[in-house]
Amino acid sequence: MSTMLRLHDVYKAFGGNQVLTGLNFNVRQGEIVGLLGPNGCGKSTVLNVITGYCPVDRGEVELQGERVSGMAAHQIAARSVRRTFQLPSMPTRMTVEEVVMAASTQSHGLWSTLWRTAAVKRLEQQTRERARHLLDELLLAKVAHLPAASLSGGQKKLLGIACAMMEQPALLLLDEPMAGVHPNLRAELVTTLKRINAQGITLVIIEHDMHFISETCSRCIVLDKGKTVADCLPSELENHESVVEAYLGKKPGGQYQVAGAIA
Ligand SMILES: Nc1ncnc2c1ncn2[C@@H]1O[C@H](COP(=O)(O)OP(=O)(O)OP(=O)(O)O)[C@@H](O)[C@H]1O
Ligand SMILES: [Mg+2]
Repeated sequence: MSTMLRLHDVYKAFGGNQVLTGLNFNVRQGEIVGLLGPNGCGKSTVLNVITGYCPVDRGEVELQGERVSGMAAHQIAARSVRRTFQLPSMPTRMTVEEVVMAASTQSHGLWSTLWRTAAVKRLEQQTRERARHLLDELLLAKVAHLPAASLSGGQKKLLGIACAMMEQPALLLLDEPMAGVHPNLRAELVTTLKRINAQGITLVIIEHDMHFISETCSRCIVLDKGKTVADCLPSELENHESVVEAYLGKKPGGQYQVAGAIA
């Protein structure tokens, strides 16, 4: 499998807060990789530097062999990268369906088109059908007509995934997709994400829910203090010394207590 994403020696600070401190990791095409680590260790910042929301201070981000660090966010998005946000905010005056339709760059300009030619109508219909299909897949069909801002936190998370999927990206980055989503929906979300992956989409998923990680991801990268401290299988997480240390700290002079430590 070829390399989809590569971070090499990435540094990022906010003022005196050095968040990423020489971060390295690779993601291969077609993988589902979990990105884990304690609160504040820099996981969302990693998505921000990959997508160009934050410029790196030093180091390189490569997408399919091309250096993208230094590019603007829209240039990186144009390379078929989409993401969701940890705390999504949605427009107040658009319905859920309209928000998903607006996520299609093909639809840009549709709303203001005065000449409603047959081609424009056909494109609008295709965009609507794609949006409805995604809303159905993400269990939002029943709320498609509601204002997007009126959705619950969990529903907004699912809506973010629908928007990110509108143009079938090559790389999809999800920031805590399970947070706020009812645990009963976990199995359906796992199935949906695996179906997305089966379409050839590479996934990087930030998540604290270990059951979700072990059911969804083929590999995990764990960050601590701005660096990769583990790159392992989900099944190896509980007994990985650096992982337990990242979450619990080092136990002076003793063995680590691993059972349930990071569940
Ligand atoms: N735009 C910003 N301006 C200033 N500081 C920031 C900014 N973005 C992130 N930080 C800081 O960087 C550090 C890492 O934040 P980040 O959101 O990446 O952590 P995280 O691992 O995603 O945490 P969580 O699990 O709580 O979501 C925090 O100290 C945060 O305050
Ligand atoms: Mg975060």
